[in-house]
Amino acid sequence: MNDESPCIPAHVAIIMDGNGRWATQRGLPRFEGHRRGVEALRRTIIAAEEAGIRYLTVYSFSSENWRRPLPEIAELMGLLRRFIQHDLATLHARNVRIRVIGVQDGLSPDIIALLDDAEKLTAHNTGLTFIVAFNYGSRREMIDAVRDLADEVRLGRLSPADITEELFSDRLDTRGIPDPDLVVRTSGEQRLSNFLLWQASYSELVFSPVLWPDFDRNALVAAIEEFRQRDRRFGGTPSAVGGVL
Ligand code: IPE
Ligand code: IPE
Ligand code: MG
Repeated sequence: MNDESPCIPAHVAIIMDGNGRWATQRGLPRFEGHRRGVEALRRTIIAAEEAGIRYLTVYSFSSENWRRPLPEIAELMGLLRRFIQHDLATLHARNVRIRVIGVQDGLSPDIIALLDDAEKLTAHNTGLTFIVAFNYGSRREMIDAVRDLADEVRLGRLSPADITEELFSDRLDTRGIPDPDLVVRTSGEQRLSNFLLWQASYSELVFSPVLWPDFDRNALVAAIEEFRQRDRRFGGTPSAVGGVL
């Protein structure tokens, strides 16, 4: 460990999980957990800026979350709508650049417009890049990329032999965004749930027991601290002896 190096992950991606359990533990409706989850998100964006993180991705609604009861889906949509309406001006004033990943299928036109406007308004900001994974699923994202490439091959613009990892990455929603260094999942669950499967190939995974509505600066700092203890090898040898032999 080199304690002098700050070793701050450039890109942190968070699976914000545990809202329902947080509420149930308190005898509250699940919606209350989601509502408090938005507060945790606001705290986390500020904490990420202060920690010097350059890219923060949050998993807000997965392509599998459509399996939830309709009233809960409506609540989650409403929370996103209100979050953008309420926080966009503040985020823009703080120089945050917003990117949205995921598909538009199934989303109401007003939500699509809000997300588009947020991206356009903040496109040239140079502070934290805040990536919202909404109606996102990694498998669908990869299938869409494969379809794009297949089309280019069919049109004779691309040869299969020229398909590289870079070219494929460039067809994903995350094009231009570096892979996450750290993926954090809250609530103690230890799975990726169809989140950034390609991009997280070499991410460090940290599983925090904290339920998302309780997540705060301390929890983020703890996750970064755990990240700093890791020896990222990318298939090489341990860094202490690497490159010697
Ligand atoms: C995360 O909390 C929010 C979303 C998935 C949208 P959950 O709603 O999954 O909470 P638990 O996992 O049921 O506690
Ligand atoms: C993952 O959480 C999706 C989001 C946090 C948006 P889920 O709670 O939906 O995941 P599973 O169903 O427990 O895998
Ligand atoms: Mg969950």
